[in-house]
Amino acid sequence: MRNLFFFFLTVLITVSGTAKCDSVLPFSSKNSFSKAEKHDNLQNELLTVAEKYPRTLSKEGKLVTTQLDNWTEGFFPGCLWYIYENNQQDTWKQMALKWTIPMEKLQFMTSKHDIGFLMYCSYGNAYRLTKNEKYKEILVQSAKSLCTRFNEKTGCIKSWNYNESWDGKHKLYYPVIIDNMMNLELLFYASEVTGDKHYAEIATKHAETTAKNHFRLDYSSYHVVNYDPETGKVLFKGTCQGFADNSTWARGQSWAIYGFTMVYRFTKRKEFLDLAEHLADYWLNNKNLPEDGIPYWDFNAGQNGYLAAQWTEKNPAPIIQPRDASAAAVTCSALLELSTYLNNDKRYYDAASKILKSLSSPTYLAEPGTNGNFILKHSTGNLPQGSEIDVPLIYADYYYLEALTRYKKLQSKRQ
Ligand code: GLY
Repeated sequence: MRNLFFFFLTVLITVSGTAKCDSVLPFSSKNSFSKAEKHDNLQNELLTVAEKYPRTLSKEGKLVTTQLDNWTEGFFPGCLWYIYENNQQDTWKQMALKWTIPMEKLQFMTSKHDIGFLMYCSYGNAYRLTKNEKYKEILVQSAKSLCTRFNEKTGCIKSWNYNESWDGKHKLYYPVIIDNMMNLELLFYASEVTGDKHYAEIATKHAETTAKNHFRLDYSSYHVVNYDPETGKVLFKGTCQGFADNSTWARGQSWAIYGFTMVYRFTKRKEFLDLAEHLADYWLNNKNLPEDGIPYWDFNAGQNGYLAAQWTEKNPAPIIQPRDASAAAVTCSALLELSTYLNNDKRYYDAASKILKSLSSPTYLAEPGTNGNFILKHSTGNLPQGSEIDVPLIYADYYYLEALTRYKKLQSKRQ
């Protein structure tokens, strides 16, 4: 009897020990939120002019701001909204409003696809947390503006107005970038609040076209696909921000994972969920993903078989590959949502917890008063252009705070 008791005790200790090693330890978002508050409070205090939106740091460590003429302005107010959601303090709501309101005029912008990023991260969160009807109207007008860029022939929304491939051989008159998937949330939202299906139909068509043309057989993504607007024919597949036309730019893949997970949220179409899983699996099973879960800026940078016209003797390909914490933050937030659609499958939840823990470690999460008052370190914006390499980026902060918020909600549901 005594032996039997010790046998069971040994089994119990072994099993619980193994379980502890295998599963991801719980992670507390408290410390991360508290650091984020300190960073963003300082940023808000230093930038008294509401039209100077923080974006990154220059090579010299100076703050780089934009003035409602870029794609990133919605992220700082979005960060403030997430902090307000977490602490429920009115001062943070006022701060968030201070940075949201000046963006109102962008609702009529039709010159680029980024209106989804700009307005949904700012006004979208403002509406979600205040239910102010005026914000709803602004968002619906923003959705209308985005729809003007849709073309029936191509079946998708034009991203940039014009660009060229690196070698100048391809003139891109109807370029669609994978990032554009992120703008669809604004359209689905507009259909939900107005009851007008038109917006969701455009968003769904764009997602279908992207699903058809933007991925390789292994579910890695192309950054840019260019279409003939007269016939809808695909004319070019390649990259502008990645290492090579046949490589996988890490942030592009993260936009794709996030985008198709979100499209499934609204459409409940299984093929979008399946695609989101395949895209996530490409990321998580990739042999070039570092142990801490934070990717290099491109999954194929510097590898044999991945060459691009832009790397020349004068502009040699990078030898040391920087990480991209922004891509990790976007993927982390997406995986948390994806995990909620797959009962009894903890893979994506565990992977997201691991990324959150890494991003919240001193390697990536900056101490308040450092890092130009941005929350995360080590992101990469546009390496081929020599711009924003291994720096903080405001969108890394935004998706990190979104991931923390989603994680906190999931944790409280599990308890
Ligand atoms: N949407 C631009 C970027 O991801 O850099």
